[in-house]
Amino acid sequence: MKGFTVWLTGLSGSGKTTIARKLQEQFLTMGYRAELLDGDEVRRNLSPDLGFSKEDREIHARRVVYISKLLARNGIISIVSLISPYRAFRAYAREELKDFVEVYVKCSIDTCIKRDPKGLYRKALNGEIQDMTGIQDPYEEPVNPEITVDTDRQSVDECVDTILTRLNQLGYINTLIEERSNAKQGKE
Ligand SMILES: Nc1ncnc2c1ncn2[C@@H]1O[C@H](COP(=O)(O)OP(=O)(O)OP(=O)(O)O)[C@@H](O)[C@H]1O
Ligand SMILES: [Mg+2]
Repeated sequence: MKGFTVWLTGLSGSGKTTIARKLQEQFLTMGYRAELLDGDEVRRNLSPDLGFSKEDREIHARRVVYISKLLARNGIISIVSLISPYRAFRAYAREELKDFVEVYVKCSIDTCIKRDPKGLYRKALNGEIQDMTGIQDPYEEPVNPEITVDTDRQSVDECVDTILTRLNQLGYINTLIEERSNAKQGKE
């Protein structure tokens, strides 16, 4: 099968990692090969030398695009969960990767600040961090993403279902949603 990239973009705390993990689980259950390139883990391994300036974020993201390209080229679904705040950069990723599905993980900044899973917003609001996306740095919303999920309103499972349904409509996966729910319930 042909590989492709599912690129999750959104504010810190919007739910990218949570959704990406569940999505990977679903792909594996459905018999696809899928790898997850998650912002934090990949950064620790691939770019320990880099910070969060616009330049560093871009160098890191270019490395991620490169790995994603290698995976997709080998028939693996690559799930990338990276804030990727700049429109121009995501356009570059789309251009490089071709089979590229942009998922906007939409969530209000207020909810993200409330969730603050890593305590980063608190630090940014206290002035301990200077380059936090959504506080000091911009987040440029996708203009025309293939998929938008709204984590203010949808549950994690609903978000994952929305993504799988759309991937099916786009022809990237051919497993029907009905088959998945039957499998979930242990039916043939
Ligand atoms: N519908 C939802 N989808 C995803 N996460 C949700 C949803 N509703 C609530 N959450 C919660 O929001 C938090 C999202 O944190 P997560 O680490 O996934 O964000 P992130 O976008 O990966 O952030 P970062 O860019 O900092 O890595 C989790 O604690 C998760 O349980
Ligand atoms: Mg994350």
